[in-house]
Amino acid sequence: MLSSLFQASALGMLLLAAPATSMSLPSRQAAEHLMGFIGCSMAENVAQGYVATGGKRMWGPYGTGALVVQLWTSSNSAAWQKFDQQVATYGKPSAVWVQICIFAKPGATYAEVKQLIANARSHAAPNATIYITGQPQYDPGQSCFLAGQGGAELTDRLAQQAANDTTQDVHYPGSFILHKAEVQDGCHANTAGQQSLGKQAIAFWG
Ligand SMILES: *[C@@H]1O[C@H](CO)[C@@H](O)[C@H](O)[C@H]1NC(C)=O
Ligand SMILES: *[C@@H]1O[C@H](CO)[C@@H](O)[C@H](O)[C@H]1NC(C)=O
Repeated sequence: MLSSLFQASALGMLLLAAPATSMSLPSRQAAEHLMGFIGCSMAENVAQGYVATGGKRMWGPYGTGALVVQLWTSSNSAAWQKFDQQVATYGKPSAVWVQICIFAKPGATYAEVKQLIANARSHAAPNATIYITGQPQYDPGQSCFLAGQGGAELTDRLAQQAANDTTQDVHYPGSFILHKAEVQDGCHANTAGQQSLGKQAIAFWG
């Protein structure tokens, strides 16, 4: 009796303490960051440009530099703990972009890519949409020295392989492109490149 009274009055206090205006703010913020992502500095380049060009659905950059495929294969790695900090702020995402980003050695295997997809599902909301891409592609004759000769192309092939694999249920929206004048160090995007990547992301998933 006492405890149900307490619950009733606690509920009343909750309702009183939470007028519509203060409740709508967090949910509006969450609605603007309903999509998470994993990847490396190349994903961060996309996220930087995405925010700069007005993208709202996906998270902004959160310090994913150097987080290549192998840093995401264990579901409770330091990389996933970073992801979970974002989840603590914005809630479990209803969509996740998995960027396959590699160092030339060891590259990546399809088994590792499938592990990333499984981990993305387990850290996201139930039935979340999973988008998958490689790291950005370059103009003919260009490459990313960190991923090595043919490395960026390998990541794109792995993304397409996953999208073609009906057991994975992931969406490949296309490849990101970084043109020669948009590259700052033989791999990463300069400011113009970030803007371009951001616009490509908005075209892919809003
Ligand atoms: C997830 O999708 C399946 C199949 O469409 C459906 O049966 C299930 O209810 C969904 N779960 C949630 C939590 O939306
Ligand atoms: C995936 O499927 C598309 C469309 O059928 C095809 O063009 C592409 O070569 C396939 N890629 C891989 C890596 O399986």
